[in-house]
Amino acid sequence: GYVRVLHGFSALEEELADRLGVRRVVITRGDVDTDPASLRELGRAAAGVLGGYLGDNMTVAVSGGSTMAWVAEAASAAARDVTIVPARGGLGEKVEYQANTIAAVMAGKLGGRYRLLHLPDGVGGEALDVLLAHDANLRSVDELIRRADVVLHGIGLAEAMAARRVIAPALINELRARGAAGEALGQYATIGGEIVYTTDSIGLRLDDLGGVGRVIAVAGGRRKAAAIVAVTAAGSRDVLVTDEAAARAIQDII
Ligand code: BG6
Repeated sequence: GYVRVLHGFSALEEELADRLGVRRVVITRGDVDTDPASLRELGRAAAGVLGGYLGDNMTVAVSGGSTMAWVAEAASAAARDVTIVPARGGLGEKVEYQANTIAAVMAGKLGGRYRLLHLPDGVGGEALDVLLAHDANLRSVDELIRRADVVLHGIGLAEAMAARRVIAPALINELRARGAAGEALGQYATIGGEIVYTTDSIGLRLDDLGGVGRVIAVAGGRRKAAAIVAVTAAGSRDVLVTDEAAARAIQDII
């Protein structure tokens, strides 16, 4: 079970929840940018929040990223027969950070099963239609994702994500020009929450989180403050698990 640590952040948690328009904020100690131990603590806290929402037979959708990798490591069985799926398609990054990998690791820790999406990032339009028409597995995983009971996702710095996904330099310039501050689930948003670019793929996007169960965003580090403001403004609505450094920096922005 998850034991709430008395760390004196309750007032800040409430203030940020109110200002960001999310139901709940959970703050852990430190700054993940400078202290690896803080990253483990952030992962543990997020795994604890997940445990609180998990019930038997539920489906959990997870994004990729180094933060989510730590959440997966810290996950422990709290329910039976859970299924973990990647929240969104995309094999565009390091294997360790791909949503498929995170889903498989988390399923192992939760004693559940996983279903994967075998689809490169950036496949859309006609090519995607053809794949969906011919691949029943792809369709059934896509349906499962859309009915997820819990969605866990990381938040990226717009430029760092664009670079990591080997996006064309012209697009990086365009994102900069459009004021992209944060990225989650393949979508890039401004600090005001306007979505300015969407990566082609299947599965969940930031702007269709309205149809799923609980949404838990996990991101820490002072550098991510603006990205966190952008992504919560754009649609991540339930729980934000973050660290003290990001929390204080967010307080300065909004
Ligand atoms: C990516 C996800 O893999 O990781 C993004 O696809 C997420 O949605 C990002 O925003 C966060 O990465 P990290 O490594 O900073 O946790």
